[in-house]
Amino acid sequence: MRLAVAGLRGTVQFQASLKDYTSFHIGGPADVLVQPADVEDVIRLCRQTAQQRVPIFVLGGTNVLVRDKGIRGVVVSLAKLRSIKEEPGSVLYVEGGVGMPTLIGYAIRKSLAGLEWAAGIPGTVAGCVVMNAGTKLGEMKSSVKGVRIVSPTGTLMHCQAESIDFAYRRATLPGGIVVGVWLQLKPGLKSDIEQVVKDYLRYRRDTQPLSLPSAGCVFKNPKNDSAGRLVESAGLKGAVVGDACVSSKHANFIVNQGHASARDVLSLIRKVRTQVARKTGIKLELELKLIGEG
Ligand code: EPU
Repeated sequence: MRLAVAGLRGTVQFQASLKDYTSFHIGGPADVLVQPADVEDVIRLCRQTAQQRVPIFVLGGTNVLVRDKGIRGVVVSLAKLRSIKEEPGSVLYVEGGVGMPTLIGYAIRKSLAGLEWAAGIPGTVAGCVVMNAGTKLGEMKSSVKGVRIVSPTGTLMHCQAESIDFAYRRATLPGGIVVGVWLQLKPGLKSDIEQVVKDYLRYRRDTQPLSLPSAGCVFKNPKNDSAGRLVESAGLKGAVVGDACVSSKHANFIVNQGHASARDVLSLIRKVRTQVARKTGIKLELELKLIGEG
């Protein structure tokens, strides 16, 4: 394991608790948590983990539930890859670890429109591309022009948007680590962009439990319906297992009221799916990604 992370310029932590790296504040330890200093470091890390046959996993941290025994191998956080460059034609090149709130703030300052739909999404830009994040107002696929990926063996690749298959909360990309994204935005009026972002943030604050740790929406919306509405109609708002609770503000959120374990959350998810299926006949599908060992 040590050889897999030798010589990196970023930070390397052994037995790192992933609680501190997830928006849910839940999760067991990673054998090793690496924050590469830059793309060169990512390339080195991929080469070495491939040579040493050590599994590697990128943690965005906002749309995931890390199980209680944690993750074997190397977990990568792109938190240090956070530069944004403006290119001609209203294009931004954004490194994978840039958070969406930072990116939206930058776009507002540069009067660039197209990302307002993402106001309030806490994840990284790489995470949003990989899962084709979206809201009612729009989704990632509309802005992606190209993606820079480091392959599992450490080759830097460029992938055009046309070769990416985007679907609802999913994008099919070549394997590897998304280290940067070209976004095609459009010139706009700063005050208009700002207003849409403000209104949307207010809507989310009014309707979602943003002040408690969670992983965002737990279930995908079934076609033409809302998972939150279905969970509420099954009478599950406020249902608890341990410190995990179905939010009474928005029933598609499970919030961590203190020291919830992944086990608590999973058992609450099972309860919700069973009762919704019993009452409505609809089998809710997870939007949340489950990772690690139980
Ligand atoms: N509703 C209920 N009860 C609830 C929650 C919602 O009856 O507990 C009803 C609302 O009253 C409304 C309808 O369901 O009539 C839709 O609710 P909302 O506007 O909150 O949107 P949503 O479909 O539940 C989606 C995204 C959210 C995103 C919001 C706002 C998914 C799975 N969810 O939620 O995304 O923030 O729209 O655009 O696509 C996320 O992906 O993590 C996420 C939270």
